[in-house]
Amino acid sequence: MVRVIVTAAIAALLTSCSAPAPKQQAEAPTRMTKTAFGKTTAGEEVELYTLKNAKGMQATITNYGGIVTSLKTPDRSGVYDDVVLGFDSIDGYLKEHPYFGALIGRYGNRIAKGRFTLNGVQYKLAQNNGENSLHGGIKGFDKRVWTAREVSGSEPVLELTYVSKDGEEGYPGTLTTRVTYTLTDNNELKIDYLATTDKDTVLNLTNHSYFNLAGDGQVLDHEISIAADRFTPVDAGLIPTGELKSVEGTPFDFRKSTPIGARINSNDEQITRGKGYDHNFVLNGEAGSLRQAARVKEAKTGRVMEVLTTEPGVQFYTGNFLDGSLTGKGGKVYAHRTGFCLETQHFPDSPNQPKFPSTVLKPGAEYRSTTVYRFSAE
Ligand code: GLA
Repeated sequence: MVRVIVTAAIAALLTSCSAPAPKQQAEAPTRMTKTAFGKTTAGEEVELYTLKNAKGMQATITNYGGIVTSLKTPDRSGVYDDVVLGFDSIDGYLKEHPYFGALIGRYGNRIAKGRFTLNGVQYKLAQNNGENSLHGGIKGFDKRVWTAREVSGSEPVLELTYVSKDGEEGYPGTLTTRVTYTLTDNNELKIDYLATTDKDTVLNLTNHSYFNLAGDGQVLDHEISIAADRFTPVDAGLIPTGELKSVEGTPFDFRKSTPIGARINSNDEQITRGKGYDHNFVLNGEAGSLRQAARVKEAKTGRVMEVLTTEPGVQFYTGNFLDGSLTGKGGKVYAHRTGFCLETQHFPDSPNQPKFPSTVLKPGAEYRSTTVYRFSAE
């Protein structure tokens, strides 16, 4: 009897051992990895998120300022290179730098004299660019720690949330901003912005990446087309005069693809004021619909970047303030005009310019905006 039980037990054990192992789940490819990036000056820990798509393109983003720290895209022979300016470590980003890769808020570009009036109340903003307020003030969204969350799905999506307190940098209303970065399998970095407020306020969100499609050197040979019949000329302080001026016959006519450097040193008054291009272009087509804003091509590598946006404008900035004083990734010295920005946006100083599309957000409404940076090679 005992022997029967023991034999049965051994048989049961053998059966269980030889039972087929449960089927292995086909392992989903790792689309996002998270690593420590260090601490802010206030001691907050921040991370780096690396998004990888099915083709092998990679975007690395930190929740400090929502900064895109690296973007690796293929050239025409499939060689990947990093096409954005930035730093290897958080220290570079904690020191003063010209908004490399950062999310900009509450207000992209300048608000004249750091003032605006809304519902009869005058608001005074932090002035950080002479008498003007630039890119959100002294401690804008580019210097805030965002709450990060990986969104599950077939493509990697990083969601960043930041709640800006009522009165922060002088702006009214508690503003909740949610930005999602998606790296699509079509080699696009897609940025979706969503914001809500509890009081009437103004806002203009953008991303301030500096691109160099060759990975190095000046960007003057890059050829660019911008889908804009008009631009917004500026005064000496780079504040729009309010005019929407035709680009026809000016160095601002990029309706046909033209090298960035072709007219950048002309004595056109607008060019000399900007020390190159530092201007808002009024995009053709309907704001609110995703349409092409610009296309840039770098001939040596064949890399192409297309920019699509729902925004009414784009700031084309040619790194005129880069002067070689910053050393970035891999020891690269960021000399004059070694990067260009295409900051999709509402027009600068809109809160003081009644004829510009409104930047007012009211409680109960949603601010939504989408920009796509699409990469290919030819
Ligand atoms: C924007 C502005 C420029 C400059 C850069 C950052 O593009 O329009 O004038 O401030 O940001 O250096």
